[in-house]
Amino acid sequence: MATKLWHFYFFIALSAAFIIGVIVGSYSLSEAFTDHEYLCTHDEGQSLNSTEAVNASTSDLASDAPALEPSPSDLASMAWNESLGFGEILYVSMPDRTDRQDAMNLAASMSGFKLRLINGIDGATVSTKAIPDNDDLRWGQLKPSEVGCWRAHANAWRYVLDSDMETALIVEDDIDWDKNIHQVLSDLSLQMQSNSLRTVSPTDHERTSAPYGLDWDVLFMGQCYDEAHPKRQDLVQAYDDPNVPSRKDTEDVFLKQMESLGVKGNDVGKKRLLSPAYGPFCTMGYAVTRRGAQRLLLHLSYLRLRGPVDMDMMWNLQEGKIRGYSVTPPPFSAWRVGGQKDSDNKPAPNLPLSGKGNRGGWSRNIKNSARVAMVNELAMDNWKDYTNNNKGAGPAKQAEKGKPEEPKSQ
Ligand SMILES: *[C@@H]1O[C@H](CO)[C@@H](O)[C@H](O)[C@H]1NC(C)=O
Ligand SMILES: *[C@@H]1O[C@H](CO)[C@@H](O)[C@H](O)[C@H]1NC(C)=O
Ligand SMILES: *[C@@H]1O[C@H](CO)[C@@H](O)[C@H](O)[C@H]1NC(C)=O
Repeated sequence: MATKLWHFYFFIALSAAFIIGVIVGSYSLSEAFTDHEYLCTHDEGQSLNSTEAVNASTSDLASDAPALEPSPSDLASMAWNESLGFGEILYVSMPDRTDRQDAMNLAASMSGFKLRLINGIDGATVSTKAIPDNDDLRWGQLKPSEVGCWRAHANAWRYVLDSDMETALIVEDDIDWDKNIHQVLSDLSLQMQSNSLRTVSPTDHERTSAPYGLDWDVLFMGQCYDEAHPKRQDLVQAYDDPNVPSRKDTEDVFLKQMESLGVKGNDVGKKRLLSPAYGPFCTMGYAVTRRGAQRLLLHLSYLRLRGPVDMDMMWNLQEGKIRGYSVTPPPFSAWRVGGQKDSDNKPAPNLPLSGKGNRGGWSRNIKNSARVAMVNELAMDNWKDYTNNNKGAGPAKQAEKGKPEEPKSQ
């Protein structure tokens, strides 16, 4: 990792030196870039896999001209950093759900990333004057829980705009992901750098510093339902991902969506899909760009709010007012424990408090659950370790050690 970053800075330094050289030598800068356009010249629907990308960077290094920009694999390696290649990872959690906060902090630390808490909001505390204009509510009056959920996400968007971040990943506090999440996102980054669905070519800035590009407002990675645009099912980039869940671990809604986009049969369980977001809902995991945070605050606060935050996001996507991509199956998924703890809403008296609990919890659409893996990774049998490693000088041990080795039986 450190070496990778070092390489990256070295590239930047080389690039700077080269650019100065170019200017001094009175070449035009645009001319200097034309030889290195491999990031935006790609076959339709084709994209570099990790092997090819590594080779692309190697051949770039070996060419006569000094490297001008990080290669696709250098950019993809940013997905291995502590914010998964986004500016930050924000998670929304009600202040009193310290159980879920402990779980998120623990699981993220085991997977090698860091989270920043955005406080969940009790909708009853939001002033009626602060609720956006909603003369065209589509689903009836907003419930206090829906107002609170909207407010917390709007606060996350504001946090993004107040910071210097270019992107942020926003997740909720009851989720699971693959233990190889860095690899999953690094593979996604390679795809997004050779994204055949873009409407505009990547800028120089995107090609040097944006592992997922910046041509989107929202990038859905934790939707609980989704569907592709019924008339634009040609818009899809399917790619091999060794960390995709099997058919049996994938929910029907995503199988159906993949099928509508042409991925079926033996490809299920091998391919992940990138497609323009049209019908996702749930806000368990989505990234925003700064432009995205601006558009969300505009359409889901300043102008109006027509329903629950995830539904209105979807309506805006369908109307083409915000632009996004969906990743299918989504890399982030709900972690369920059963009983009342699965919801922040008012307790339902007929449900037990604890359900199955984390020890009996489950998630779907994930090949290697990070939450299951962490329990196994932290498991140990300390006293057995002492025995197995022959530590200590107890009389029994001494006697055993003193025993001559038995000759091997034939
Ligand atoms: C990547 O592409 C190369 C060359 O096209 C191919 O040989 C290899 O199997 C591919 N790897 C994966 C993981 O798809
Ligand atoms: C990548 O480069 C290696 C070493 O030069 C070569 O053996 C391999 O075939 C190349 N792979 C692809 C996919 O081009
Ligand atoms: C991770 O990489 C992204 C993209 O380059 C960057 O914005 C972010 O600051 C990095 N995070 C950390 C913790 O270095």
